[in-house]
Amino acid sequence: MVGAGPAGLTVGCVLRAAGVDCLVLETGTREFVERRPRAGVIEEPVVRGLERRGLAGTLLERARRDTACEFRFDGGRHPFGYHELTGHHHWVYPQQFLVTDLVREYADVRGGAVRFGVRDVRLHDLDGDRPSVSYVCPESGHREAVACDFVAGCDGARGVTGAAVAGRARVSRHDYGIGWLALLAEAPPSADRVLFGCHPDGFAGQMPRSPEVTRYYLQCPPGDDPGNWPHDRVWAELHRRLGAAGAEPLTEGPLIEKRVLDMHDYVTEPMSFGRLHLAGDAAHLVAPIAAKGLNLAVHDAFALGDAFVDRLLRGDGAGLAGYSASRLRQVWDYQEFSQWLSELYHGGASGDPFRAGTALARLRRLFSSPATAAAFAERYLGTAARY
Ligand code: APR
Repeated sequence: MVGAGPAGLTVGCVLRAAGVDCLVLETGTREFVERRPRAGVIEEPVVRGLERRGLAGTLLERARRDTACEFRFDGGRHPFGYHELTGHHHWVYPQQFLVTDLVREYADVRGGAVRFGVRDVRLHDLDGDRPSVSYVCPESGHREAVACDFVAGCDGARGVTGAAVAGRARVSRHDYGIGWLALLAEAPPSADRVLFGCHPDGFAGQMPRSPEVTRYYLQCPPGDDPGNWPHDRVWAELHRRLGAAGAEPLTEGPLIEKRVLDMHDYVTEPMSFGRLHLAGDAAHLVAPIAAKGLNLAVHDAFALGDAFVDRLLRGDGAGLAGYSASRLRQVWDYQEFSQWLSELYHGGASGDPFRAGTALARLRRLFSSPATAAAFAERYLGTAARY
């Protein structure tokens, strides 16, 4: 596995549970991957999948189970109680906690091999029966090579495995033309649920992460400089865009992270090339609009880990042969949902009165049509039919 993110570590845990020899190669240090704040919303089907594989012990103890989110538009609060509607939850568990649990389980409990801090990873002979991966060892500075049966490309959006298939893969990209200023505030959440502010001046979001830290998002021009967003401007915009009649004022705090994300998606097809199989962000990126990236990565890893085990221990190659096609169905489904949701969030601030009108109609329909609400809940929670 190239990459010790959620995808690579989950594949590793599945392989180790079946007694398969494997190696995870990671450019960062263990401390770095265990501390890096990223996504934080996990779907119930992913939680159940982790639980079935003995990987959810700490998560089940520590994660918050959300029962509702809240839209704010037209100056009002519009709570959306998805648990009441479906019986399902959203789980809030920072990605770095999940990575910490998975590293411990993979390396310390299941005895999986891992090399942190490697440099210049290269892939060799992917189209033959005996591919290999080489890397520069951090201690010796020498290049070492490992022969293997398969390579799992789990090294995220800027890794080498996705790049290795450039020219052979079809990569479909979508650019939203929108930026999100991603903020982490050292402050307790202002509301105990996720807030979506759909405001004519731009989208704003609040995602509780822990009692001490809260994630906020503010729509901004793509490529904007975070330096254009001093503390006072950030909080003034958040107050305005998330303000609603009867809402508690936001709890302000120091901003410990401030990054501009240009909203874009891509999908690499197929996800398998000879002995290389891509998983997670290495294969597809979904803008954080619907919080689906981490979930897709773990869904990929379950499918890929199980397929490797079937092939290596039982000689059954059907899972690996079908891996790409079956995963791409869900990937495209989640991409479509992100697009749908993006228009709901951003249409009102598009400057186009027609789009603003249809976005508002879309929002109102969520709260007036039970069928629309049920369909939204199913897709938001990731509890739609299996792929
Ligand atoms: N060699 C080895 N490791 C690498 C290389 C490389 N050349 N390049 C990157 N990596 C490592 C990164 O340091 C990171 O730890 O691969 C790991 C990839 O992890 P993620 O980026 O978290 O990707 P993935 O496991 O697919 O999980 C997707 O991450 O971006 C978020 O929102 C996204 O939550 C989703 C999740």
